[in-house]
Amino acid sequence: MNTRYAKLAPATTRLVTGVYDRLDYGALGAIYCYEGGDEFWRAKRGPCVRLGSRIAVLLKKKLKRNGRSLYVGAGVAELPPMIMEAVELDRTVEPHNLRKAEVIALNRAGRALPLTFHAVDAAKAKGCFDHLWMVSVLNDPERFPNLSPLTYGQGNPLTLDTMKFNKERRTVRALVACCMGKLTRPGLVTTTTEEVIWIAEWCHQHGVAYRVGKRYYQTALVGDPICFIHIGEED
Ligand SMILES: C[S@@+](CC[C@H](N)C(=O)[O-])C[C@H]1O[C@@H](n2cnc3c(N)ncnc32)[C@H](O)[C@@H]1O
Repeated sequence: MNTRYAKLAPATTRLVTGVYDRLDYGALGAIYCYEGGDEFWRAKRGPCVRLGSRIAVLLKKKLKRNGRSLYVGAGVAELPPMIMEAVELDRTVEPHNLRKAEVIALNRAGRALPLTFHAVDAAKAKGCFDHLWMVSVLNDPERFPNLSPLTYGQGNPLTLDTMKFNKERRTVRALVACCMGKLTRPGLVTTTTEEVIWIAEWCHQHGVAYRVGKRYYQTALVGDPICFIHIGEED
């Protein structure tokens, strides 16, 4: 086995450790949970590093050097793969997140990193990308309170507000269309098993071949398992 791909480079690990040391967990506590911020991060910080680094190792094998990655809704959990891409594969990494306070905290802690978080809608990202990361965005209960429960098989037919549901579904489809339109082929999408349907729908509508990886990987914060979708590969 080529050990270069089996683990992260020491430089990546140093940067990951450094940025997690510098994060303002007080500020992040208010963003990620309603109460018990300190306890939350004491429990979650280790899994963020460990599980994020595991995904980073997998991406190291899947992505080519000097490509571009669009990270939609990227936050604390995404730091290891983003750092690996920038440091080890010389890739341009563009993380977008609509939560301004989180973007400020991440950029402050990540001053030494070769990437900057943008508090701007990812739909506005410029140019093309060969990797799209969209994890726990389309099923976010805060942003899509009427659509999200259905994603998890928890909808209530008696109380579902179909007008609001339709509006949220239009927003989700528009975001997917915008981001998928920026993806070069062959390309890679990293997403959760709950969000695969939206990517698959776009591929069917556009006659684009896709292959969903069979393996699922645990995540630290939201808990939705991650998988990879290979887009537009030749047979
Ligand atoms: C539930 S959080 C998931 C955070 C992180 N991916 C994780 O798994 O821990 C959803 C994030 O998606 C972001 N988001 C939603 N729509 C977005 C958009 N159009 N552009 C950029 N970020 C977006 C929100 O601001 C929020 O930070």
